[in-house]
Amino acid sequence: MVRTAAPFADRHLIRSGTGTITIWSPAKLNLFFEILGKRADGYHEVETLMVPIDLYDTLTFEHITDCQIILACNIPELPTDEKNLINKAARLLLPHAMRVPGVKINHNKKIPWAAGLGGGSGNAACTLIALNILWECNLGKSELYHFACQLGSDVPFFLQNTPAWCTGRGEIITPTWCDSGYDFVILKPNEGLSTAAVFQHLTIPRNPLSPASMKEAFASGDLHSIGWLLHNRLQEPSFELSPAVAAWYQRMSHHQSAGVLMSGSGSSLFALCRSSLEASRIKDDLTRGIATTGDRNTRVFHVRSLH
Ligand code: C5P
Repeated sequence: MVRTAAPFADRHLIRSGTGTITIWSPAKLNLFFEILGKRADGYHEVETLMVPIDLYDTLTFEHITDCQIILACNIPELPTDEKNLINKAARLLLPHAMRVPGVKINHNKKIPWAAGLGGGSGNAACTLIALNILWECNLGKSELYHFACQLGSDVPFFLQNTPAWCTGRGEIITPTWCDSGYDFVILKPNEGLSTAAVFQHLTIPRNPLSPASMKEAFASGDLHSIGWLLHNRLQEPSFELSPAVAAWYQRMSHHQSAGVLMSGSGSSLFALCRSSLEASRIKDDLTRGIATTGDRNTRVFHVRSLH
């Protein structure tokens, strides 16, 4: 078994002091999402291009000498019990701790949930990375990857924190190179969507769209083509389940960005922008539009992809 001190830690924004680790847990966007078929295990075979973005939760892990996992979050309505992916990830590492496996975790959540932005999956991956260091588990990449797969289809992507093509049920990661990041405006409608419900509502395509053109466009940094080629097979079932999300898509399409798409299983929508200036303009326009409706729960973010 290959053991390294802190696999994956180099790609994450980590600050560690005596007995404390702070890690920034990014969100993601899917620029391409195709379904290849349904599998015997009930999951779907997917082919997706995921990019991490600079919208972060912050997780602080403080070692304590009681054998306890204590989780606190700034959003009171989020469960902090065994259902929480941070808690689940910590429990997976418990048997591998080389020091007292106690931790106080403080979760400062900024990434919207039920949003298709991978917030919970990223949190789980960051918990594996941080506790592997804090509890001196000394687990190598393959062991952390194995635990990440158990926690969810999107969790392995967040271990390596670079743009990647993800296949299988999402857990087979092929990092892809790009020279620069892109500006996006994300709109998270008030309504959330359940991933399981969206997958259940899906019609599997007879002829899945080839990712070849998007692969070429992304690798060569051709923003215009990426905008044209944005594709998400989950968009149609999500719009059927939530007409409000479909209506936001229509409104965002009027802003003349390089392209608009829903991320993952929704409900977040994003506009790919040609510049930071264009993103600021679109963000301001959307924010003004939301303010006139009195809607306080729909949120807008200007983000940049990590590369
Ligand atoms: O893997 P994860 O727990 O994130 O998946 C949540 C749900 O989404 C699964 O229970 C399944 O219904 C659906 N899913 C799927 N195919 C995938 C990924 C997720 O059907 N590739």
